Amino acid sequence: MKLLLTLSLTCTLLNTAESLRCHVCDNQDCSNSTSVTCPIFSVCRTITSLRRVDRFTSVTVNKNCSAILSCITPLNTKTEWSVNQGFAKEGHRQLCCITDNCNFQTLAIPNSLTNEKQCPGCASIAESLNGTCNATASCEGVEDRCFTGTTTVDSTQFALQGCMSNNLCRIQALIGALLGGNVQITCGAPCSVRMSAVLLTFAVTAHKVLL
Ligand SMILES: *[C@@H]1O[C@H](CO)[C@@H](O)[C@H](O)[C@H]1NC(C)=O
Ligand SMILES: *[C@@H]1O[C@H](CO)[C@@H](O)[C@H](O)[C@H]1NC(C)=O
Ligand SMILES: *[C@@H]1O[C@H](CO)[C@@H](O)[C@H](O)[C@H]1NC(C)=O
Ligand SMILES: *[C@@H]1O[C@H](CO)[C@@H](O)[C@H](O)[C@H]1NC(C)=O
Repeated sequence: MKLLLTLSLTCTLLNTAESLRCHVCDNQDCSNSTSVTCPIFSVCRTITSLRRVDRFTSVTVNKNCSAILSCITPLNTKTEWSVNQGFAKEGHRQLCCITDNCNFQTLAIPNSLTNEKQCPGCASIAESLNGTCNATASCEGVEDRCFTGTTTVDSTQFALQGCMSNNLCRIQALIGALLGGNVQITCGAPCSVRMSAVLLTFAVTAHKVLL
């Protein structure tokens, strides 16, 4: 069954690879888009992203062709993922699909309502860079796991902690592969364990991996 699905998916992809058309944003807020022919081995993608650092929040919408391998979420399924270190958060809602202009929709803004879960987090970027994090992150929307980890940026190793959606926990191998194995994340249930660690905004990493 799995093989059949894979074969039929492969055929679908090969059939559409050369002729797939997708919407591409025309302007900054993507209120207008045009249809273009994508490069071979593309899917169509529409993604709505919410980023917050301290009190500053921005929302962006992007629609474009995307290389099949860059689209890490299941095809034809709206998928939301989110990372939240307390002082900084990055959430995305995405649809990748493989029929002409299937990415016409503008997806809803990722959920940023606090849920009842909490994780060890970081109150400010100063604290995070100084390694003196001692805050609680209130998890939001789909963030249902606590995570701790490390990443290497410009030869400097940083520790990371906060709330994360479970689907990101599950694709950490992929995150590592895409970033040359730099990122190692451990996820657990929302918990009360306090950890002090040097933090760097995971948004930088997530942004590189996921966009
Ligand atoms: C769409 O993606 C192509 C590369 O696949 C890129 O060159 C182009 O700038 C992108 N357009 C927008 C509006 O993001
Ligand atoms: C949207 O883009 C199309 C094609 O570029 C253009 O003809 C149309 O005027 C644009 N609409 C708006 C509201 O900008
Ligand atoms: C960094 O940590 C040290 C020792 O914990 C503290 O004395 C200093 O004020 C901290 N600096 C910042 C910018 O938080
Ligand atoms: C961490 O925060 C708790 C509660 O806010 C406080 O009691 C404790 O002294 C803090 N520890 C450090 C090292 O700042």
